[in-house]
Amino acid sequence: MKKTHFLFITALLLPLYLAVAAAPQENEDTEYVGAETCLECHDNMIKSLAKTPHFKASATIGETHVEYCEACHGPGGIHLEDPEIKGSIRNFVEMPIEETTSACLSCHRDDHFLKKIRREKHYQTGESCLSCHSVHQERPEGKLLAQRAESLCFTCHQDKAAEFNLPYHHKVQEARMTCWSCHDPHNTETSIQRLGHKKISEKCFECHPSQRGPFTYEHLASNVGTCEVCHQPHGSVNARLLRRSEQYLLCLECHSGQLPEDGLFGKKTPSFHITNVSTYQNCTICHVKIHGSYLDRYFLR
Ligand code: HEC
Ligand code: HEC
Ligand code: HEC
Ligand code: HEC
Ligand code: HEC
Ligand code: HEC
Ligand code: HEC
Ligand code: HEC
Ligand code: HEC
Ligand code: HEC
Repeated sequence: MKKTHFLFITALLLPLYLAVAAAPQENEDTEYVGAETCLECHDNMIKSLAKTPHFKASATIGETHVEYCEACHGPGGIHLEDPEIKGSIRNFVEMPIEETTSACLSCHRDDHFLKKIRREKHYQTGESCLSCHSVHQERPEGKLLAQRAESLCFTCHQDKAAEFNLPYHHKVQEARMTCWSCHDPHNTETSIQRLGHKKISEKCFECHPSQRGPFTYEHLASNVGTCEVCHQPHGSVNARLLRRSEQYLLCLECHSGQLPEDGLFGKKTPSFHITNVSTYQNCTICHVKIHGSYLDRYFLR
């Protein structure tokens, strides 16, 4: 190998080497010392744990029964020798996401909703459990959330705040519902259209059961899409969260007969519909059961 190559590779690896050297060493030399010992110097930390479910939670790691502090922070032996040494104990701040996740999953591995967490969008973009949760809280938020429910997700998804500020919107900021009324926070992949058609509609039906069906005459041919083809689920400038300001424009996107007949689009409106006349523009005045009907194939009743 050329010398320059060697130097280059060393330079690349050096930070990695330092990081590994600084990480707490979890070999046999590192002993568990017990929560009591931790509290000798960190008695203030107990307050921030006392009202949370982690108070006195314990785990069996290897052969050892480990009490709460070290079940998360790892063995404290080296830390005890010289607490001032950075990295003598797992401190979670700036820790690699994989390590944080493993520490939490060492107890939460059986929680079914966390099974796919490593394939999840947040994990993959480097957001760990601690992007949303905070463990030490004197007055704990529900589910140990790092922030109040109505603002948690907006801290990163700021563009969504604009959508929820539109005149018609689902009331997340007003704390009447949450982002996770619709999205699974631990598996955001399933909630988006391209993978989870059915799942997100199921969420809608929890609160809007009358749209569920199955109807004798369905409007939502499964290849058409879901609620989002007509509604903007976060918020809209239009009443009923509709995508278009005028209802007929929405309908005619699919029912104008000008679009390819591949099953995605509906039939052209019958000739007696004079769609440039206002009487005919409020289509749901006649097609009242627009989401589907038990009685009429044209959704007239
Ligand atoms: C002898 C006193 C003492 C004991 C016992 C002790 N610590 Fe510490 N700990 C310290 C001091 C001092 C610091 C450094 C504070 C600083 O840097 O601001 C510290 C820092 C920490 C940090 C932050 C580390 C960092 O790198 O910023 C964590 C986490 C921690 N201790 C957890 C524990 C746990 C868990 C135990 C029990 C296994 C424990 N400590 C036992 C004195 C102690
Ligand atoms: C459920 C896991 C868990 C348990 C149990 C736990 N901690 Fe922590 N600890 C964390 C996390 C995560 C952080 C990072 C900050 C946060 O999320 O609140 C942290 C932060 C800390 C810090 C550093 C604070 C700072 O500002 O640098 C100290 C010190 C600490 N913990 C001590 C303890 C002690 C002492 C105990 C036992 C009484 C304990 N922890 C129990 C997960 C835990
Ligand atoms: C020593 C085992 C243990 C470890 C490690 C652990 N937890 Fe927990 N956690 C529990 C137990 C026990 C509960 C309460 C029962 C349950 O909900 O499963 C709990 C509950 C929770 C809850 C629900 C809180 C509520 O109010 O319902 C959250 C959120 C949570 N843990 C997050 C974390 C995070 C984040 C980490 C990593 C920093 C972590 N846990 C590490 C044992 C642990
Ligand atoms: C994108 C934000 C986000 C991330 C990342 C995240 N969570 Fe959560 N978690 C939440 C929200 C929001 C809730 C509350 C859900 C609810 O109330 O239905 C929650 C609830 C929980 C609960 C309690 C579930 C219950 O029903 O009692 C546990 C345990 C938990 N999370 C653990 C974790 C662990 C461990 C990680 C990392 C592997 C993690 N979470 C990552 C947002 C997140
Ligand atoms: C710490 C920052 C952060 C927090 C807090 C956060 N997210 Fe995210 N979220 C991201 C990043 C980064 C991505 C991936 C990039 C993207 O697609 O925007 C993402 C992606 C997503 C996606 C998938 C988008 C897609 O196109 O696939 C959804 C859905 C989502 N987040 C919902 C939530 C919800 C709900 C909450 C609150 C429980 C939340 N997020 C909290 C940073 C965050
Ligand atoms: C009423 C149900 C509902 C609520 C509440 C909701 N969402 Fe969504 N969200 C959806 C649907 C449906 C989609 C899929 C839209 C699409 O793919 O066209 C989506 C898509 C997304 C996406 C990915 C696509 C994009 O537009 O970037 C993100 C990120 C997201 N939502 C974040 C959030 C956040 C953050 C909150 C809370 C402030 C939230 N959502 C609340 C239903 C909801
Ligand atoms: C947690 C319950 C809940 C979920 C889940 C939910 N919604 Fe809603 N939705 C509401 C409430 C409550 C209102 C009406 C009040 C308000 O917030 O303005 C509403 C209003 C609406 C409206 C406007 C109705 C009107 O009369 O103006 C539409 C359209 C709508 N939701 C569609 C959806 C779709 C599509 C989904 C799934 C992506 C969904 N909702 C999921 C609770 C929910
Ligand atoms: C083909 C377009 C279209 C689709 C797809 C669609 N909607 Fe609608 N929806 C409408 C129209 C148009 C209105 C307004 C009806 C009115 O003003 O009389 C509406 C109104 C609503 C309302 C208000 C209450 C009502 O019945 O008037 C809710 C709630 C609603 N839709 C939920 C949903 C849900 C949930 C889905 C997905 C299962 C969905 N919609 C799919 C067109 C659609
Ligand atoms: C995303 C495309 C789309 C939108 C938007 C849409 N439709 Fe449809 N519609 C369809 C499809 C596909 C069918 C089933 C094929 C067919 O029979 O035309 C259908 C069927 C119908 C039927 C029954 C036709 C029959 O012969 O059985 C009526 C009536 C109808 N739609 C009215 C409306 C009205 C009114 C609106 C606006 C509120 C609307 N549609 C919006 C795609 C759409
Ligand atoms: C005044 C009442 C009325 C209004 C308003 C109305 N329709 Fe209709 N529509 C009907 C009736 C009645 C039928 C059934 C015709 C039949 O029995 O053949 C029908 C049938 C349809 C069909 C089925 C066509 C076929 O060949 O199967 C479509 C699609 C349709 N309407 C779309 C619309 C759209 C889009 C609008 C708004 C621009 C609208 N309608 C407004 C009364 C109305």
